[in-house]
This record gives sequence, structure tokens and C-alpha cells, in this order.
Amino acid sequence: MRCSKTSPRLASLASHVPERLHASFLYLLKIICKMKLLVIGGGGREHALAWKLAQSPRIQKVFVAPGNAGTARENGLENLPLTDIQELARFAQKEHISFTTVGPEAPLAAGIVDVFRAGNLKIFGPTQKAARLESSKSFAKAFMQRYDIPTAKYATFTRASEAHAHIDKHDAPVVVKADGLAAGKGVVVAMSKDEAHSAADMMLVSSNMGKAGASVLIEDYLEGEEASFIVMCDGAHILPLATSQDHKRLLDGDKGPNTGGMGAYSPAPVVTPALHNRVMREIIRPAIKGMAQEGVVYTGFLYAGLMIDSKGNPKVLEFNCRMGDPETQPIILRLKSDLVSIIEHALNGTLDQVSAEWDRRVALGVVFAAANYPDTPKKGDVITGLPRAGEDFKVFHAGTQLNGKSVVTSGGRVLCVTALGDNVKMAQRRAYEIAEGIRFNGMQMRRDIGNRAINLKKH
Ligand code: AMP
Ligand code: GLY
Repeated sequence: MRCSKTSPRLASLASHVPERLHASFLYLLKIICKMKLLVIGGGGREHALAWKLAQSPRIQKVFVAPGNAGTARENGLENLPLTDIQELARFAQKEHISFTTVGPEAPLAAGIVDVFRAGNLKIFGPTQKAARLESSKSFAKAFMQRYDIPTAKYATFTRASEAHAHIDKHDAPVVVKADGLAAGKGVVVAMSKDEAHSAADMMLVSSNMGKAGASVLIEDYLEGEEASFIVMCDGAHILPLATSQDHKRLLDGDKGPNTGGMGAYSPAPVVTPALHNRVMREIIRPAIKGMAQEGVVYTGFLYAGLMIDSKGNPKVLEFNCRMGDPETQPIILRLKSDLVSIIEHALNGTLDQVSAEWDRRVALGVVFAAANYPDTPKKGDVITGLPRAGEDFKVFHAGTQLNGKSVVTSGGRVLCVTALGDNVKMAQRRAYEIAEGIRFNGMQMRRDIGNRAINLKKH
């Protein structure tokens, strides 16, 4: 019996069973039909997604490929040491995986959704073509222009001499971006022309970003408050998730280099209900509709990174074709609904028939990064003081692995300590209280996650 097919039919089968046996019949079928799921990725976002999926009573096991030390030790999760897309598809066939959810952008850009679908495997994410909204910034910018989606003015260059000439004519600050995927590190917000020239050289001449930097965008600098606006799409319907705000810079006070994200909280108070409607109307719906007009049905998570100016006008900084990391960690900690059921609706094209219920509290996540992150993160440092989860917090793992009984660092961003509180200040206090006990050599952590929201409220 295939569990994925059987579970949604429980109710209709039950109608053929005599009344007095109804409850026992349903109970029995639920036990027999426990589903197995697969989550692709090994970061904090994937730990959070897999942890949440495993809480559904219908789930027997969630495989996480490749996972980390956190997913290795979690009840109901099992790590799978695979990253090759064909091997993952074969595994999903063999294990009768009910559906697969993809965390990071790289497998999406490499076409994992297309491969799984070709093998009749259910997978939640955008196709390779749809993922171009993230995998090529020049595609995304031209797309936004075609559909009047508000974004900063830009120009694209492959020749360094032309990029330099453009920078010379431009006022600073100015933003230099690698066209391709660069794990959140392909953007230089240059406060001076000199800095912009060096960034263009670093991408186009020294090729520090490899192919991702073979083409660069030079973009107007936008000022304001950032927010992450993430929705789920089933091709026709859109389900917005709770809003959030990331902290991209490495150091307190939004100083230092851009990173993949050093902390996040949800909700983002800057996104008022009126602004929410406006973002849906001016950004999200036109994006989904525009893709459809170009023959691309958008399915999966869609993330609009927004800059909201002092007058409350939103502009798109970037589109991502996935959930954010670390935004997912606080968002998932607040999700009260069954994520399995929501994704099933998304896979069946019935997202309009489900809603997501959120904890009214604020969730705030503080990232621990390894020594030398983001340039050359150090690996192998033993992490001590990791607490068990509590009712109001969870430590999600990212770049960690097991070394015997020890948990050691194995990547740039290592942990995300995520806590709930009645307001941003209380969630912040709780998260730092828990973070206090955790130690590893050279660890880096911002001390001001949430301060922007706290200061916003003061104005
Ligand atoms: P992106 O990967 O395009 O979202 O850029 C990473 C980060 O760089 C954003 O979260 C912003 O903090 C900053 N950034 C990107 N584009 C701009 C812009 N046009 N103006 C100001 N800051 C920007
Ligand atoms: N935290 C930013 C991102 O996931 O792109």
C-alpha cells in the first residue's frame, strides 16, 4: 500500500466502514500509512523544515540529505549522505517518499524539480526555468522591468572597462552584484567609488566569484528598512507566510561584509497590513502572473527581499526561489499548522483551501558563525553547552557534524538559537540567554539581532 496515495483517501474509505468501527479504522490506517518525506539540504533552514514536518502525526520518518549534526540527533529524522540529484531521485523511488521539499537554491537551479517530476516523484519547488528568478540576477531584473515590479535601476556588464566607466559616472553609494549564485556573498554595497571599482575588478578581473561573477550588475543604492516576504505558490494560488527580517551584515550595527544572514526575527513590524496588501498587489502577484505569461508555472516558495523606503514604498532587492536562511528558523518556530498538510495542498494545487496559523509571539533567531566566516570559515571546532529544546526555544543546527559523541563546526553558519517571546525585546532576551551557554573557538555572533525592530517601535 502506497502511503502517500492512501492518506488523503482515509476519509472516503472510512465512509464504507460500519459506523461503530469508524474510529478504530481511521486509527489503524493512520498507523499503517505513515509517510516518509525527504528534505534536501543541510543548513539551519532544512533542520527547521524537517523538524516541523516530523511533528505531523502522519509522518514516520523525514530523511534529510545531507543534513547536519542537529538533524542526525533529532527524533524522526535521518540523515542521508547524498547530494547527487539522480541518486536522490533513485532513493525517493526506492523508499516510496511521499514528497520531497527543497531547501537551498543550488539543487533548484540545477533542475532537481524537473528530474523528480520526470520520474513521477512529488517535489515542492520551482523548476530550473522558474528558479532563474534567483539564479540569474540579470534575468530577474529584466523580468521586473517587463512587469513593472518596483526595483532599483541597474545596468549589466561583462567587461571590466565598461563597468569602471559606468561607476565613474555614478554617484556613491552604489551596489555591485555578481549575476549568478554566490551564497549570499555576491553583493558589495560600495560606500565609495573606489570600493565599487575594487568590487567590479574582484568579480570581472580576478574572478573571485568564478562563473557567478562573470557578469555583474551595478545598481542604484536604496535606503530604508529591509524585510523578507515569503510565499508558497501552487502554480495558481498563493499562500503568504509570516513576514520576517534578516540581518545580512556580519557585525553589530549592520557593519562589516554581507553574509548569508546573521539572525532574523518574525514578524517584521515594518510590513503593516496595508503594506502587505501592496506587496501582494505590486510584487508577488505580478511576478507569478508574469512567469505564467512567459510559459513558466511557478510552484514552490518565492521570497522577495524588500527595501521599504521612509514613505513606505517597497522595492525588490532580490527574488529567491526558496525560503530564507535564517528567516525560516523563526518563521517555522511560529507556525502552528501542520506543514505536511500545507505542502500537500501546494502539491495538489489547492493552496486556496488551507491557511497557516501563526503563534502570536515574536520569534527571534541568533546565528553563531564559525571563525573567519564569511571568507574562509574554520571547521572542526568542538561545540559545547548545546541545550535541549524548550517550549519557547529551539537551537537549529547548520554547519555542524558529529565527531564521535562531539558536535563540531563544519561550515560558515553553525547554529541558529531561536526563541519565542511576547515582543521582540523578550524574544531577544530569551534567545541571548540560551546563546550564553554555547561555546566554540572563534565563534562569531551579533549582539544586536532585533534592535532595528525595537528602534522602529520607538519612532
Ligand atoms: P541581495 O542578495 O541582492 O538581496 O543583496 C544582499 C543585501 O545587500 C541586501 O539584503 C541588502 O542589505 C543589500 N543590498 C542589495 N541591493 C541593494 C541596493 N540596491 N541598495 C541597498 N542595499 C542593497
Ligand atoms: N537570509 C537571506 C537569504 O536566505 O537569502
